[in-house]
Amino acid sequence: MMGHVVNLLLEFVRENAGDKALQEVFEQANVEPASYRFEVIYPEAEFASLLAACIKVLGTTPGDAEIAFAEYFMQVSPRLFAAYFEVSPSTRLFLERLPELHRSLPKAASELPFRDKVSLLGARSDAIRLGYESPHELCKFFIHAIGLLFKYYGETGDCIELCCTREGAPRCEIEVRFDDEPVAAA
Ligand code: HEM
Repeated sequence: MMGHVVNLLLEFVRENAGDKALQEVFEQANVEPASYRFEVIYPEAEFASLLAACIKVLGTTPGDAEIAFAEYFMQVSPRLFAAYFEVSPSTRLFLERLPELHRSLPKAASELPFRDKVSLLGARSDAIRLGYESPHELCKFFIHAIGLLFKYYGETGDCIELCCTREGAPRCEIEVRFDDEPVAAA
C-alpha cells in the first residue's frame, strides 16, 4: 500500500481520537511508529495490521470504520489533489481515470511492484462497471467514497455492488449509474 493512504489512515485516527490513540495503534499493530513516504509502496500486511488496530482502538465496527474513513478521505483529497479534481470535471470522468491516477502515483520511488486494485471493466452511455480487488476488502469504503464524489460534483446517480469478495467472488464489481449527461474532458 502506498505511503499516502497509510498516512491518511493514521491522520484519520489522530484527528478523531488524538495522539495517544495513534500511539496505541502502532503498539497494537506491533509496528514501529513511523511516518510513511508518500510514493513508496509498503507491504500490504503492514497496512492490514494498522487497519485492524485502528478499528480496535476507535472501538468501531469494520463497516463503520470504512464509512468514516471514506468521509475523511473525501474531505481531504479535493484539497490535497485539487489538480486531479479540476482535470476531471465529473464523477464519471474522475472514476474512469481513477485506475490511471493510482498507477501514475507510485512510479517514481517504489521498490515493490504496484498492482492495480481498481480497474475499469466496462462502460455504457449511462453507467460504468468498476472492478475492485484488494486484500483489504474495503468495498464499503469505495462505494461510500463514490457517493461522496457525486456530492462533490453536485451530481446524482447510484452505485450497486454486483458481487463481492466477502461473498466468495474473485473480485468486487461495482456498477455506477449516472443521472447526468457526460461532461467533456477538460
Ligand atoms: C486525487 C485523489 C486520490 C488519490 C491521490 C488517491 C490515491 C490512492 C493511493 C495512493 C492508493 C493506494 C494504492 C496502492 O498502494 O495500492 C489508493 C487506493 C485506493 N483508492 Fe484512491 N486516490 C484518490 C481518489 C480516490 C477516490 C475519489 C476513490 C473512490 C471514489 C478512490 C478509491 C480508492 C480505492 C478503492 C483504493 C484501494 C484501497 C485498497 O484496498 O487498498 N481513490 N488511492
